[in-house]
Amino acid sequence: MLVSGGGTNLQALLDALQQSPRARVARVISSRPDAGALDRARRAAVPTTVLRDPADAAELLAALGDAELVVLAGYLKLIPGSVVSRFRGRMINIHPALLPDFGGPGMYGQRVHEAVIASGAKESGVTVHFVDEHFDRGPIIAQARVPVNKDDSAETLAARVMEAEHRLLPQVVLDLAGRIA
Ligand code: GRF
Repeated sequence: MLVSGGGTNLQALLDALQQSPRARVARVISSRPDAGALDRARRAAVPTTVLRDPADAAELLAALGDAELVVLAGYLKLIPGSVVSRFRGRMINIHPALLPDFGGPGMYGQRVHEAVIASGAKESGVTVHFVDEHFDRGPIIAQARVPVNKDDSAETLAARVMEAEHRLLPQVVLDLAGRIA
């Protein structure tokens, strides 16, 4: 699993996989040494790696080892092309909006929800997609929708989307793990 932030999606996955023999989180790899996700991994006794340089393909490939599925959750760095090629169809990302809208470089965190509200959209949601060479652009695997309420702030919308993320990501991972195994 690749992370840069607090790791609530990692936590949702760890919790869901506790009851499942179908998959396990083998390693948590962070682009930042201070990512809260690293503490969650350590508490769950999952090995961790902090990348020295996330643009270094060799370093990332070494950290990924023989992973069967690579999950990006809150990972903010672009994956080097050779790593994308090596894991094509086995590397997924979760994004807090309904792609192809509200994605791309710089579209992360509160900015996504601010943009959704500013657009007047009545719905937002979550997208899980395969990773390609571009931010938030690979083939879509699954989406979950949530309403945008008239009185939503970026914070209230983010909270609703986050709940949907924590349900959708474990579902997709278990589904894909069942197919890869
Ligand atoms: C999530 O909203 C995810 O969709 C996005 O970054 C956020 C990560 O949150 N890519 P967390 O680190 O899993 O709490």
